[in-house]
Amino acid sequence: MSTEANMEPPRSAAARVAAPQGGAAELGAARRSTQPLLVAQDITVRFGGLTAVDQVSASFMPGELVGIIGPNGAGKTTFFNAISGVTQPTSGRLALHGRSLAGQAPHRFAARGLARTFQTPRTFGDMRVRDNIAFGLKFAGRRRREYLFWGDEVGVPWVLRTADSILGLIGLGAQAELPAAAITPSQQRLLEIGMALATRPQLLLLDEVAAGLTENEVEDMARLIRRLRDELDLTVVWIEHAVSTLLRHVERVIVLHQGRKIADDVPRAVIRNPEVIEAYLGDEMGDAEAEGAAA
Ligand SMILES: Nc1ncnc2c1ncn2[C@@H]1O[C@H](COP(=O)(O)OP(=O)(O)OP(=O)(O)O)[C@@H](O)[C@H]1O
Ligand SMILES: [Mg+2]
Repeated sequence: MSTEANMEPPRSAAARVAAPQGGAAELGAARRSTQPLLVAQDITVRFGGLTAVDQVSASFMPGELVGIIGPNGAGKTTFFNAISGVTQPTSGRLALHGRSLAGQAPHRFAARGLARTFQTPRTFGDMRVRDNIAFGLKFAGRRRREYLFWGDEVGVPWVLRTADSILGLIGLGAQAELPAAAITPSQQRLLEIGMALATRPQLLLLDEVAAGLTENEVEDMARLIRRLRDELDLTVVWIEHAVSTLLRHVERVIVLHQGRKIADDVPRAVIRNPEVIEAYLGDEMGDAEAEGAAA
């Protein structure tokens, strides 16, 4: 069991990851690398007297699918905010591709390949579903000026090249013409993932994208997330309270409790960790369910 300051990956995810599609040098280099994509070291976020995130260290390897779990108020969203530039950490270090991101604005994180969803979906309700995706594509186009010369988006998987192909990937092709406000809450969550994918990220942070979904929808969401990781070669970090589903799909899970990281290991080990059971899993799932989840 690893706790504070463990910057070592659990195993070489990079070795398992399929070859990148296309040839963009930066993308390819990051994916072949055995260096972590993102390293967070001793991240602390305080709000007045409250320490929401307390010296959390974690690193994420290219191609990993990592879950983050923990009770309400544990600091999960605040940790995401800190590692995506939305909230300035009180202290700690952050590096993406080995380069420090201290003090940078969120758009700098995005320009370096990080995309995220929000716990409360942020879609443009009066815009059509397709136009919400097109907005993300426009952002990606602005930062990838090299395509002006290549005439094609070298290194971008075909499925991320157009709004319609992204809508097909997330299963919203039939809703393309609807205003985003008119689609169901579960479709809103998919749309937000689509908007994040449109920025062509390497690292995707998902904050409770399965919240409020039915059991079947949660399973479908988990399968989609795995497909994104497997087929688009993404690194995905996924916060979710649907613990049994999450544990069946991720290969590593980080547990936060009262702002601290209390576990960072494979699901099989985390479900047997007495501190994790005491803090969270005891309430969230029974023993048999936990065993099944990590089988
Ligand atoms: N902007 C803020 N100002 C003050 N306190 C905040 C702010 N954002 C979060 N907090 C507090 O920080 C703590 C961690 O909140 P956070 O939203 O990160 O938890 P969480 O693990 O995401 O919880 P949940 O599972 O309910 O989404 C909570 O006590 C919360 O009330
Ligand atoms: Mg949260």
